[in-house]
Order: sequence, then structure tokens, then C-alpha cells
Amino acid sequence: MRGLFITFEGPEGSGKTTQAELVREKLEALGLRILRTREPGGTPTGELIRKILQHDAGGDELVPECELLLFEASRAQLVRNVIIPALQSGTSVLCDRFADSTTVYQGIARGFGIKLVQSINNFAIGEAVPDLTIMMDVAAGRGLERVSERSPHGKQSYDRIEREALSFHEQVRQGYLELAAAEPQRCVVVNTDRDRDVVAKDVWNVIESRLGEQIRKLAAALREQN
Ligand SMILES: Nc1ncnc2c1ncn2[C@@H]1O[C@H](COP(=O)(O)OP(=O)(O)O)[C@@H](O)[C@H]1O
Ligand SMILES: [Mg+2]
Repeated sequence: MRGLFITFEGPEGSGKTTQAELVREKLEALGLRILRTREPGGTPTGELIRKILQHDAGGDELVPECELLLFEASRAQLVRNVIIPALQSGTSVLCDRFADSTTVYQGIARGFGIKLVQSINNFAIGEAVPDLTIMMDVAAGRGLERVSERSPHGKQSYDRIEREALSFHEQVRQGYLELAAAEPQRCVVVNTDRDRDVVAKDVWNVIESRLGEQIRKLAAALREQN
């Protein structure tokens, strides 16, 4: 039986990593096998691409077209070498950022257009369409504050994209809300400007109401295998 594929999306500091880890613990406790991964990265090639994207590791400034295609290149590698094999073996995948990130950062905030980016996304992801996408929603400024609070060097340690203007990050946030409204069958928005336990409860309610039955079936199938 195929595993479940859940993606966590949202602006910087919205709580994707925090909540994905909590979801992993809950799903494992129910008997699922979980693989957690992230974008860009998640494969040796993807992690090299991540260094280029976050810190201009090539040394020259990335043109936006190159940036877009590097995200997609990292994704193509992750999907085929990690995500699809895991799903086929019955492992469920939790991914920190996925195709919607490119749609909003490059399609909306960088202005390439949603249509173009979604068509390249489709090429990169093939059959790896998420069963559920949780859109973590927080005001862009609040999310960035959290990111700088967690770092010993504050804003000095922002990566190339985190250093973009607040208006860029606010476009990202609005972009996610637009996508969620356009694809309500796949996407659910959770307000993450609340205590993390409260957020975790909401996130779990979303997973339970959308995927509860599939989770129980999958857990039963995995128990039979063992
Ligand atoms: N609900 C919350 N309230 C306050 N701080 C939070 C909350 N969720 C996460 N954080 C903190 O904010 C920072 C960013 O969270 P993180 O999960 O890394 O976000 P993301 O992965 O979306 O960038 C971390 O230091 C984290 O501990
Ligand atoms: Mg994170």
C-alpha cells in the first residue's frame, strides 16, 4: 500500500519544521513508517544545490531564471530518488516545503507567473502530488522575527532569500493564501501565530479529518507485513 505524502508550506519562520516533527512523532506512534525530508535538498545533489541557492555558493549572483530552475532541479532529484521510492514501499513522506514554495516565491514574488511555474513544477514532480498540504500562516514580519530570534547572529545569518524585503515576504504569504483558496481539496491553512501546542492541535485535527481513514488502513497493512 502506498504511503501518504504530506507537505508543509508557509513563509519563513511560520513553524513548518517544528510542526512537521510533531506530526512525525504522532504518525509513528500510530504505526506508520515516516520519512522526513526538505526542499531544496534531501539528496546529495539537492543539498549542493541548496548551498548555491541559500548562500550563492557559486560566487556569482544567481539570475532569477537560474534560481527557479535550480529549485526544480533539486526537486526532480528528490522526487525520483527519495519520495517516490518511499511512497511505493509504504513509507509516508513529510516534506518541509515543496512545489507550492516555487509557485509563490518565483511565480508570484519574483513575478514569473503562476502558470509558468506550475507547469515546470509538474515536470519536476511527475506523479508525486501531495495528498495534503498544510499551509502555515503567519504575518511575514512575525515569521522573520522568529527566524532571527532563533539564530545566535540574528538577522546577520539570514540566507539569500530571507534577506529579501518584507514586501517580498508578505507577497509570499498572500500567495500561499491564494493557492490554498484555489485548491481547497489539497490545501488547508493553519494560523500559526499562536502557541505551538495550540497550532499542533489544529494541524493534527486537519490530518485526522482529511487522512484519518487512510492512516488507519495503512497502519493495519504495515502491521500485517511485520
Ligand atoms: N507557534 C510558535 N510560537 C512561537 N515560536 C514558534 C512557534 N512555532 C515555531 N516557533 C519558533 O520559531 C522559529 C521558526 O520555526 P520553524 O519551525 O523553524 O519555522 P520554519 O521551518 O517554517 O521556518 C523556531 O525558533 C521555532 O522554535
Ligand atoms: Mg524550517
